[in-house]
Amino acid sequence: MTSTPHQNQPPAGEGADALADSTSEASLGRSVARSEQIAADLDVHPGRYRMLTGDRPTGHLHLGHYFGSLRNRVALQDKGVDTWVLIADYQVITDRDGVGSLGERVQSLLTDYLAVGIDPSRTTIFAHSQVPALNQLMLPFLSLVTDAELRRNPTVKAEQDATGGRPMTGLMLTYPVHQAADILFCKANVVPVGKDQLPHLEQTRVVARRFDERYGRAGDGSAPVFPAPDALLSEVPNLLGTDGQKMSKSRGNVIELRMSADDTARAIKRAVTDADRQITYDPQQRPEVSNLLLLASLTTGRRPEEVAEEIGSAGSGALKSLVTEAVNEHLAPLRARRAELEADPGELRRVLAAGNAHADEVARATLDEVREAMQMVYA
Ligand code: TRP
Repeated sequence: MTSTPHQNQPPAGEGADALADSTSEASLGRSVARSEQIAADLDVHPGRYRMLTGDRPTGHLHLGHYFGSLRNRVALQDKGVDTWVLIADYQVITDRDGVGSLGERVQSLLTDYLAVGIDPSRTTIFAHSQVPALNQLMLPFLSLVTDAELRRNPTVKAEQDATGGRPMTGLMLTYPVHQAADILFCKANVVPVGKDQLPHLEQTRVVARRFDERYGRAGDGSAPVFPAPDALLSEVPNLLGTDGQKMSKSRGNVIELRMSADDTARAIKRAVTDADRQITYDPQQRPEVSNLLLLASLTTGRRPEEVAEEIGSAGSGALKSLVTEAVNEHLAPLRARRAELEADPGELRRVLAAGNAHADEVARATLDEVREAMQMVYA
């Protein structure tokens, strides 16, 4: 067996700067190029990829999530990529308060997933707290990172800032390592992320590489236990909230998937616009009006400029009516499906239980390899 002797010093040196470096221009360029390569290959060889992503159950999903990531997941699933979606319920306890009980939020998230077309017969949906072997990977992984490295992680810093000066918990500091466990337990090789999330993925790559260097391999030693996953950077439309600010639940400027058509109409009616009756698409000078045009574009498939031209000098009232109708029409089938699902909580529980069981099976097999590589098989 090829295994490296355990070393007790912290894993400095090689890779120590990989994280800091992951935000550099050169590194970003490499990630973009690699991501483009993968995106092209996904069409040709979908079967070569296992994609994993997930969400914290913090509240109800909204149009930002839908156009930013959910749609994309469904597209990958439909291409035949082995798709895994995790509900990050442990991660949610690192951060800001969510609304409602965790159980309700998990159920709502699951309902949104199924309503948008994530299909549990093709996609494994699971809650990471329900997969013991996944969480056990956290211990060996923690031995592979230093606290200085975690403190430097830009996403940890951003999370910390968002808590409004509360002291940093151990879980907050180490959540990138937990996320590495999320990705590596099932050996996912692609993770759709926004550019701001690249440092996370780099942390996962560092953990995978260091595990190989420090603990060696299992089986015939021909392959590392953990493949280093790649980022899949997707084109995300810059959809703002109805007030023209960053879309966020706490600002009350979101349109949730589960809203009724009437609530949607009310939210769009309240949307901020400007005094110019002539409607034009100009995201720099007229962010609020342009955002409504973007929403119309996303829901109808037409270009925003074309929609602007159609409205012309009819003003923002006409624009809002058009957007309301477009959004409601686009979401109608999804909302109908959502209502059916809500009426059958037993089915939702079965879906999650099946996903958890599948994840558990895969996690255990990985943990067995980890024990073997670490020479921790005693009986
Ligand atoms: N951190 C992600 C978020 O805040 C959720 C998440 C947890 C995740 N584990 C993951 C995303 C693994 C991708 C891969 O939304």
